[in-house]
Amino acid sequence: MITYEWRGGFENVEVNTLHAEAFETRVFDESEWNWQRLVDEHSLGWVVAREDGELIGFVNVVWDGLVHAWIQDTMVAAKAGRRGIGKQLVAVARDAAGDAGCEYLHVDFDDDLKPFYYDACGFRPTNGGLIELQ
Ligand SMILES: CC(C)(COP(=O)(O)OP(=O)(O)OC[C@H]1O[C@@H](n2cnc3c(N)ncnc32)[C@H](O)[C@@H]1OP(=O)(O)O)[C@@H](O)C(=O)NCCC(=O)NCCS
Repeated sequence: MITYEWRGGFENVEVNTLHAEAFETRVFDESEWNWQRLVDEHSLGWVVAREDGELIGFVNVVWDGLVHAWIQDTMVAAKAGRRGIGKQLVAVARDAAGDAGCEYLHVDFDDDLKPFYYDACGFRPTNGGLIELQ
């Protein structure tokens, strides 16, 4: 059974392991990337997806403290891909951000994920911009 929990519990090692697989990085340790501290200090919330207890999906929702929220680091374990888990993670995040009073949910992504964010998750295209700082 798959469960989705807004502000659900997780261990840093679980998210770092999932992140490494999803974004093809090495596995950071919690002294380098402490998700618990980051989401506590900077996020409106996050969504944890588990199947039989195992972390299979995660998305972070950062915000401006009032009306704008942003989806960051949507990730689903490869073995659990294309079962609608990513779509449901975003749907839970969308509902929770709306319940918190946010008026807009933003996301940015590469071209190949247009079918996921536009067609499956319901975002509409908008202009955006990016400056690389490092
Ligand atoms: C992108 C990601 C979150 C999608 O999660 P998922 O659970 O596999 O997606 P879903 O099953 O909910 O997909 C729903 C629909 O979105 C579309 N979709 C999903 N992944 C897609 C992809 N990689 N390319 C194109 N369309 C995609 C499909 O239409 C899919 O429906 P279908 O399987 O019936 O064809 C997941 O592949 C992932 O973690 N990728 C690596 C990390 C990443 O790039 N995250 C996004 C950062 S912006």
